[in-house]
Amino acid sequence: MEFSDVESDLTDILFTQDEIHAKIAEMARQIEADYAGEKLLLVGVLRGAVMVMADLARELKLPLEMDWMAVSSYGAGTQSSGVVRILKDLDSDLEGRKVLIVEDIIDSGLTLSWLRANLESRGAESVEICALLRKPDAAKVEVDVKYAGFDIPNAFVVGYGLDYAEKYRNLRGIAVLAPHVYA
Ligand code: XMP
Ligand code: MG
Repeated sequence: MEFSDVESDLTDILFTQDEIHAKIAEMARQIEADYAGEKLLLVGVLRGAVMVMADLARELKLPLEMDWMAVSSYGAGTQSSGVVRILKDLDSDLEGRKVLIVEDIIDSGLTLSWLRANLESRGAESVEICALLRKPDAAKVEVDVKYAGFDIPNAFVVGYGLDYAEKYRNLRGIAVLAPHVYA
């Protein structure tokens, strides 16, 4: 889906598909340098990170495995609750693994700081984070993100995997959702 297909639901257009792909390629080059010779496990956070995972994994010139987790801190609204529940757990054993969490967005940081601690407690050798988007003004806890894509304003954004009430995930780019949609 293109921006023009849902134009009246969007305010600012933040990133086109091409801009996103260029940023993912940039992050992939850093990841390749850091994990050369290693067997990497990418852990995608469902469902928002599906597009980032698909593009990042194909861009990486490294042998890797992919696994998925679903956690929930949100419900259908636009505010983080801080309460994280595991809806779907990993299939992989993390003992001794080099894990890279792949996320769409860091808002308050509550979900990822919980997730990192959870994965570390399972015996992973290392747990790092790759997030396409970050909202610095919304941070409630500091999260050390090794690979960060774009910093964005504190607004609710959709597209490229990011949803509002399960809509807009299939938008190619990323845009700010117009307040009238969720008011
Ligand atoms: P926290 O606040 O724990 O939240 O860092 C991270 C999760 O919240 C969702 N999220 C968003 N989803 N547009 C979305 O579609 C947004 O602007 C947004 N901000 C946070 C997202 O699922 C992320 O994993
Ligand atoms: Mg979501």
